[in-house]
Amino acid sequence: MEATETKMIPIYIMGKRYEVPEGLTIMKAMEYAGYQYIRGCGCRGGICGACGTIYRKPGDYKIYSALACQTAAEPDMYLTQLPFFPANHVPSNYAELEGVPEDIYKLYPELFRCVACNACSKICPMDVPVMDVIAYIKRGDIEKAAFEAFDCIQCGLCTSRCFAEAPQFHIMQLARRIYGGKLAPKAKHNAEAAQAVREGKFDAMLNQLMSMSTEEIKKEYIEREIEPETAGDDWKPKDAKWLIEEFLR
Ligand code: SF4
Ligand code: SF4
Ligand code: FES
Repeated sequence: MEATETKMIPIYIMGKRYEVPEGLTIMKAMEYAGYQYIRGCGCRGGICGACGTIYRKPGDYKIYSALACQTAAEPDMYLTQLPFFPANHVPSNYAELEGVPEDIYKLYPELFRCVACNACSKICPMDVPVMDVIAYIKRGDIEKAAFEAFDCIQCGLCTSRCFAEAPQFHIMQLARRIYGGKLAPKAKHNAEAAQAVREGKFDAMLNQLMSMSTEEIKKEYIEREIEPETAGDDWKPKDAKWLIEEFLR
């Protein structure tokens, strides 16, 4: 059988031309071209936000954005990574925040400089409606802002485009934290689990694990009961003695 020849495509990394095999992600294409990742790469799975990349295509006025680990290199793309963008992060004592929109306004008054240009939403590789989220915060709807900003992976690309020079991703993260920590209804099972820990429900099991050898722990881990992939919401392990009450009902 004849070996298939790898098709090479030209790409431009920081203005320099390289030939790379077709089908590679931008990240792998950069490595193929000789770049070594020390910064600008973390999870390689589209989660950590370390590999923000901007690029243009010939004959096209638009600025495109991508995560280098998730996006295939295209012929003739001109790219550079922008793994970090300076963004004002205001330290705050979370415990002292009241859980009201004014908490955010005091720390980030620049959010009121937003001119609703939508450049932030357009560049977001995670399709977060950044401009809308900033608007929800301005009108005091922290819950809506927190949910709409859920997919933000903190890559910082939105901030690179902001006319208002606002650090949207820090502002949105604060909204998410305020919602999760101070506004969202408390999860009953979390409270029950914390109480069970305090009452020592797991002490004997933890002590037993601490006394086992590495080989015994490995065996225990390999032989553990695993939830089947097709399990429904009502699945429970056969050995239910470690479940908290909430899950036994
Ligand atoms: S909202 Fe901003 S920081 Fe978050 S993923 Fe989108 S561009 Fe990146
Ligand atoms: S880029 Fe800045 S000014 Fe433009 S919509 Fe987004 S937050 Fe507002
Ligand atoms: S390396 Fe983590 S998102 Fe790309």
